[in-house]
Amino acid sequence: MPHALRHLLHELQLALLKLVIRLLPGARPPVLFAGSGSALQLCHALADMGARRLLLVTDAVLVRLGVVAPLLDALRSRGIDCVVYDGVEPDPTHAQVEAGLALARQHGSEAVLAVGGGSPMDAAKIIAACVSNGVAPAALVGNFKVKIDPLPLYAIPTTAGTGAEVTVAAVITDTAARAKLTVVDGKLVPRMAALDGSLMLGLPPHVTAASGMDALTHAVESFVSRFADEKTRPLSLTATQMVFRHLPRACHAGEDLAARQSMAFAATYAGMAFSRASVGYVHAIAHNLGGLYHTPHGLANAIVLPHILDFYAEAAAPQLAELARAIGAADAAATERQAVSAFIARVRELARDVGIPETVSTLKVSDIPEIARRAMAEAQGFYPVPRFMSQPQCEAILHKLLP
Ligand SMILES: NC(=O)c1ccc[n+]([C@@H]2O[C@H](COP(=O)([O-])OP(=O)(O)OC[C@H]3O[C@@H](n4cnc5c(N)ncnc54)[C@H](O)[C@@H]3O)[C@@H](O)[C@H]2O)c1
Ligand SMILES: [Fe+2]
Repeated sequence: MPHALRHLLHELQLALLKLVIRLLPGARPPVLFAGSGSALQLCHALADMGARRLLLVTDAVLVRLGVVAPLLDALRSRGIDCVVYDGVEPDPTHAQVEAGLALARQHGSEAVLAVGGGSPMDAAKIIAACVSNGVAPAALVGNFKVKIDPLPLYAIPTTAGTGAEVTVAAVITDTAARAKLTVVDGKLVPRMAALDGSLMLGLPPHVTAASGMDALTHAVESFVSRFADEKTRPLSLTATQMVFRHLPRACHAGEDLAARQSMAFAATYAGMAFSRASVGYVHAIAHNLGGLYHTPHGLANAIVLPHILDFYAEAAAPQLAELARAIGAADAAATERQAVSAFIARVRELARDVGIPETVSTLKVSDIPEIARRAMAEAQGFYPVPRFMSQPQCEAILHKLLP
């Protein structure tokens, strides 16, 4: 399809999407517990609310590190019958989600608690929705496919990045197609979440950096989004400020509880913002690098982000200049253009400081047309980007990421 026609179709689809979003009842926000010890508070609140049979979804690393045991003890001491599914790995696959689903059905689980990063949280969301809807994960892929409310869903994030504890999204990997697929529905927002920075003290620096840059990407993409509004802008702005202020310390001094807690808040604020205002081309490209090469999501975003900001520099100049002023990268005397350049330069500096490389080590020239095609298809009619991209423009950006 010619570029001009694709662009026109994108505008029409976005207008329709905006209308649908306005008409749909907004997702109910979760009850949030926050601070050191809040994960245990959430467990006790579950018991107080009468939860009886619970599936805890996590990963084997967190079990080994001893993050899960105290939570399980608290739940069991309050008489909750828990089973643990720890088979989730980074970028959960259909097979991993189906194994958790089988356990939930066999156990007769009535609620689902996710303990982990985006991967266990996404798996838990899909399991909870599959049980109540009586379907397989594939049936939920796409937008607004969750007909019946999922089993009551709760989240304890152990990374500060995805914001999945508050978002309407879940991502699942189709290994045969080497593609990351999204399930988007307001019903996927957990009922309660605990933002407990003390669980993140042992997160290795490279995961801290990648997940923190994912939060920054959510904040920035939602801020420049054409769906940004008075509800999302303050959240995106605050999250951006907090990532610049606290991510370096969370990476270089991981035991700093205050930095960890601040990053936990930043990720949640950014998640709330993008749940409403959506994301853009950074995510479209990052998802497809992740699908093809298993590049960690936050890492892919961090590498792509400055290039997409260069591409948006004129179209989103007022927003990028505002972000520059908010993080102290430009003062009132700076012109808009100077402020935009200063912001993009600070994003590059932050990425370098926390150890993000500038290239995708596994990227192959021969894959670039397919990655660009898939990224354009993902964004088409769905991501409210400030500037529309052509396939050759996307390929040119990908060429800059070659090792
Ligand atoms: N649902 C959403 O809204 C949303 C948004 C963005 C990304 N995602 C998805 O989330 C996934 C990425 O999640 P992530 O970045 O949080 O990473 P992750 O959940 O994949 O975890 C990455 C690694 O960190 C380890 N880890 C997690 N917490 C730890 C801790 N406290 N201490 C030590 N190690 C710990 C895990 O065991 C794993 O090895 C991707 O699949 C991505 O597509 C979802
Ligand atoms: Fe993300």
